[in-house]
Amino acid sequence: MGGYFITFEGGEGSGKTTQIQMLADHLKSHIQGCDPLLTREPGGTESAESIRQLLVTGRADRWRAATEAMLMSASRHEHVVHVLRPALGAGRIVICDRYNDSTRVYQGVVGGVPNEDIEALNRLACGDLVPDLTILLDMDVEEGLRRAGTRATTESRFESKGTDFHRRVRQAFLDLAEQQSDRFVVIDAARVVHDIAADIVAAVMPRLAARGLS
Ligand code: TMP
Repeated sequence: MGGYFITFEGGEGSGKTTQIQMLADHLKSHIQGCDPLLTREPGGTESAESIRQLLVTGRADRWRAATEAMLMSASRHEHVVHVLRPALGAGRIVICDRYNDSTRVYQGVVGGVPNEDIEALNRLACGDLVPDLTILLDMDVEEGLRRAGTRATTESRFESKGTDFHRRVRQAFLDLAEQQSDRFVVIDAARVVHDIAADIVAAVMPRLAARGLS
């Protein structure tokens, strides 16, 4: 498959949305004709956004972790088939806010769903679609939750799972990044936005150049 698939992962309030936008702006202004697709999970299609609403609103104990994994995977399958694969097939750079590493971490390691079940769901939802590069924005959990808490949104179900849950999420992401270090780049996200953005650009541009995409 052509194109280039970048995913962003990290805890609550780690600044993914801002950094994705800044990366897209950089790509548009430095690569002639570049039109990156920005998308997110859970979500990214009308039907997947409907599933998102079930997942991110309401009480923390609204769903069991296994139910969350199935709903996340259901929304992901729609997104993979209708958005991600067509865009990558057309040679576009795709930047996705979260992907199946979030399911490995939130529902798998932290939620307690066995790894083989998570991987079976990932295979069903994604087939062989693995990111070319995953940027992990890592930062202090309390500060991230504080930042996330200042947003005016009803999408706070995962935030309300508590500090201990999110400490485990942070550690699980760091462990996954170490296990899959060929695909992950870990960025210290507790700094000013322009320094974080510069590190992301420094990670992305040589990889695009190596693929003949810049
Ligand atoms: P967002 O706030 O980054 O848009 O993500 C919504 C929430 O969904 C976030 O708290 C992480 C959670 N999530 C999972 O638990 N598993 C997943 O597979 C995905 C994509 C997100």
